[in-house]
Amino acid sequence: MNTNALSQQAPRIAPATLQMQVDPMLFKSGMRQLAAGVCAVTTHHDSEPHGLLVTAVSSVSAEPAPSLLICVNRSSSTHERIINAGCFCVNLLGEHDVELARQFMSSDRRSRFAGVDWETGITGAPILTQAIVSFDCELEQAIEADSHTICIGRVRDVRVRGESGQPLLYFGSNFAVVRPHGTSTSA
Ligand SMILES: Cc1cc2nc3c(=O)[nH]c(=O)nc-3n(C[C@H](O)[C@H](O)[C@H](O)COP(=O)(O)O)c2cc1C
Repeated sequence: MNTNALSQQAPRIAPATLQMQVDPMLFKSGMRQLAAGVCAVTTHHDSEPHGLLVTAVSSVSAEPAPSLLICVNRSSSTHERIINAGCFCVNLLGEHDVELARQFMSSDRRSRFAGVDWETGITGAPILTQAIVSFDCELEQAIEADSHTICIGRVRDVRVRGESGQPLLYFGSNFAVVRPHGTSTSA
């Protein structure tokens, strides 16, 4: 695994520019407008499943071999587990999975997999069988970026379950659902 590969090459920001930095609250208020799919990111430690709720997920590249990234706060207990296990699975939750989403953001980490069906993927990460799609990834790069680590995963397996319905979104500090363009909100 190549750690900090990019950050070592990145140009330094001049101190004068740092003094003009944007208020983090303003940044968060802007980011709340960015609707995102709600994902349970899972890994394993001591033969036990672990995971956390994540919206910072992006495709990196489909060619020559698929990869994606997640951003994980280094203060999260799952962070070290992902680094140590060398694998993670991104499970996109469905519109009916709000309770599951709450479990994965709960401070009661032991309850996160309560009542959840999962199986072990080819990387060793737990795959949630009710997810709309699961991307089973081998951790290829871990790049430190301020409070977070950008974890780039080489995708080893994809399980698409079209029958699982629409994805669950997070928007404006609330869970939300997809409404196709042109659909009326009034009854
Ligand atoms: C909607 C939502 C999205 C989140 N997205 C992320 C994320 O992208 N990365 C991250 O590290 N934490 C994210 N979090 C916070 C973690 O889910 C939360 O801090 C979790 O409790 C960390 O768990 P742990 O410390 O037990 O690992 C998000 C929380 C919510 C509610």
